[in-house]
Amino acid sequence: MSKPRILIQLDTDCQPSVFDAVVAVDSGVDHLFRHGGVTPDAVRELIYGAMFTRGPENLRNTAVFIGGSNAVGSEALLAEVTGCFFGPVRVSVMLDPNGANTTAAAAVHAASRHESLAGAEAVVLAATGPVGRRVVRLLAREGARVRAVSRSYARAQTVCNAVRAILPDSDLTPVEQSSSEDLPAILDHAVILIAAGTSGVQLVPETVRRGAMSLRVVIDLNAVPPAGIEGVAVHDTAEVRAGCICYGAIGVGDQKMKIHQAALHRLFETNDLVLDAEEIYAIAKEIG
Ligand SMILES: NC(=O)c1ccc[n+]([C@@H]2O[C@H](COP(=O)([O-])OP(=O)(O)OC[C@H]3O[C@@H](n4cnc5c(N)ncnc54)[C@H](OP(=O)(O)O)[C@@H]3O)[C@@H](O)[C@H]2O)c1
Repeated sequence: MSKPRILIQLDTDCQPSVFDAVVAVDSGVDHLFRHGGVTPDAVRELIYGAMFTRGPENLRNTAVFIGGSNAVGSEALLAEVTGCFFGPVRVSVMLDPNGANTTAAAAVHAASRHESLAGAEAVVLAATGPVGRRVVRLLAREGARVRAVSRSYARAQTVCNAVRAILPDSDLTPVEQSSSEDLPAILDHAVILIAAGTSGVQLVPETVRRGAMSLRVVIDLNAVPPAGIEGVAVHDTAEVRAGCICYGAIGVGDQKMKIHQAALHRLFETNDLVLDAEEIYAIAKEIG
C-alpha cells in the first residue's frame, strides 16, 4: 500500500516560512515536517531520517523542500542534502529560497511568451539579489544577451562570473547604474526589461520607460509601493502600456504560485529529482 506523502521543510530562518508551509498544504501533502534554523551540520541526521525509514518502493512519498531568506545558506543546505544520497537511496528535493527560483522562473517564462529569448537583448535591474541572479542565469541559458545591472560594478561582475562558470558561452555584460540618468543608455536597444529590485524601491521613472522605444516586454517584481517600474501596476498581466507588454509582481506571482505547486507535485512522482532554478523553469514551460 502506498504511504502518505511527507514533505520535510528545511529553512535557514529560525521560524520556517509560513508561506512555503501553506503552499505545501494546499498542494496536498499529507504531512509537513517543518524545521527552522537549519544549518549544514544538522542536515545529515535529518535527511538520513528521510532516506532510511521507507522501502525503495515508497521513497518517492518522502520529499524535501529547502527555503529561507538566506539564499546562499539555502544553497549550502541543498549541497549537504544531495551529498547524503547514494545509489537509489535518495528522495526528491526542491530549492526555493524566499521564492527566488519560482519567481525567476515565472518572470522569465512570462517574457518568453512574448519574445523569443534566444539572442534577445535583455536588461535585469538589481541583478544581484537572489531573484535577479536567477533571472540572469535563466535568461542566459535561453540564449539571451543579458545586461546585469547593479549599483556596484563589482557586484554585477560577480553575478556574471558566477553564471559564466556554469554557462561559459553566455553573453553577459555587467553594468553599474549610479542614478536614473544612466538608464537611457543602459536600456538602449533592449527588448526585455526585468526589474528585480528590493521591495518598495522605484528603479525606473515612467518618463525613462516611455522613452526606451525598443522595449517590448517590461516586468516589475516589486509588489510594495512605489512600483519598481513607475507606471507598471502590480496586477498587470500582459497589460499593454505605451506599446510595451507589462507584468507587475502580482501578475507574475499568480504564475509563480502555479509553478510552486506543480513543482511540489512533481517531487512525489519519483525519488530522484533535484529541482533548482533550471528544473523549475522547465516545469514552468511545461505547464505553460
Ligand atoms: N512576485 C513574487 O511572487 C515575488 C516573490 C519573491 C520576491 N519578489 C520580489 O522580487 C524582488 C527581488 O527579490 P530579492 O529577494 O532578490 O530582493 P533583494 O535581495 O531584497 O534586493 C535585490 C537587489 O535590490 C537592490 N537594492 C537593494 N536596496 C536598494 C535601494 N535602496 N535602491 C536601489 N536598489 C536597491 C540590490 O542590488 P544592488 O545593491 O546590486 O544594486 C539588491 O541586491 C523583491 O522586490 C521581492 O519582493 C516577488
